[in-house]
Amino acid sequence: MDVRAFWSPSVRELVPYVPGEQPRSAGLVKLNTNENPYPPSPRVAGAIAAAAQQGLQLYPDPESGALRGCLAAHHGLESGQVFAGNGSDEVLAHAFFAFFRQSQPLLMPDVSYSFYRVYCQLYGIVAQQVPLDATLQLQVADYAGRAAGGVVIANPNAPTGIALPLAAVEQLLRDHPQCVVLVDEAYVDFGGESAIALVPRYPNLLVVQTLSKSRSLAGLRVGFAAGQRHLIEALERVKNSFNSYPLDRLAVAGAVAAYEDTAWFEQTRQAVMQSRAALVRALRGLGFEVLPSAANFVFATHPAHDAAQLAQELRAQNVLVRHFHGPRIAQYLRISVGTPAQCDALVQALQRLVAVPGAQ
Ligand SMILES: Cc1ncc(COP(=O)(O)O)c(C=O)c1O
Repeated sequence: MDVRAFWSPSVRELVPYVPGEQPRSAGLVKLNTNENPYPPSPRVAGAIAAAAQQGLQLYPDPESGALRGCLAAHHGLESGQVFAGNGSDEVLAHAFFAFFRQSQPLLMPDVSYSFYRVYCQLYGIVAQQVPLDATLQLQVADYAGRAAGGVVIANPNAPTGIALPLAAVEQLLRDHPQCVVLVDEAYVDFGGESAIALVPRYPNLLVVQTLSKSRSLAGLRVGFAAGQRHLIEALERVKNSFNSYPLDRLAVAGAVAAYEDTAWFEQTRQAVMQSRAALVRALRGLGFEVLPSAANFVFATHPAHDAAQLAQELRAQNVLVRHFHGPRIAQYLRISVGTPAQCDALVQALQRLVAVPGAQ
């Protein structure tokens, strides 16, 4: 019997996203999935413990009102301009369904977050990839004049880490007033410029952010979107046709506590940015070319060493980094910025692998 006989034809054709390895064994230097190397604010555990004492027998607020209010206040918006979901991946998926199932193609960079193509396949959205330039930078002029049913970019981009200035994002919004421009800001707190301030001025702008990176809450699964009310209403319609309660009581309590601890947020993101600067210097010292990163990871290539092989050899030395086989990026490693000790362990392992014998 064909083991796939029960699958619908569309499921047979899916090519799902493959997340980076989440190893079960301890003792690995884990620099492969862009998590924050620091734990969340200590207030998070307290808030979750308190929430666990009250009302778990009841469904949570379907609107996640406490969290939306907190996010709106933090970003200078109204609650009706914020949508919260179970990780930004879920928010992105709802946005793709809500806005991009159009007769015209969805424009996206050829090198970007690979989940975008997976959502397109899942929802039958036609995607058109717009190549980044030779230095892997996004040029908004390359998007102008194309018929578009939507535009999606990550800013800073993943896996390159390169940030697009806000003026360029605004140009994209002005060039495509007839469709939604989705700006995925998963990494913006590590050196990018957020487009959230543009929300009141652009009815076609949807910004998506996550608490997985700069708030150290990848394990809690909380993401959100900011946009004008008509866009948020569309996301609510999709969510309420899929799962009324994407965020549980504990997640809402923990997320609010993380947002309230601004000192912790500042301290940890500054620490990550400092480690990034040191890591870039060390990698360049080993002969790597490193793209300018405004994220909590760097994208690096070595002229004399195959990236896939380096990733494997690092794995053998208990250091995990991410390698993608895609065109144009197969010779790069994506390395998450760890603590100074984790970065040192990576650099030492690389020294053993790439150092030229006899060189100083
Ligand atoms: C560009 C980008 N967007 C969104 C996400 C999803 O984040 P989460 O679902 O944890 O909020 C990631 C995760 O790595 C990412 O790299």
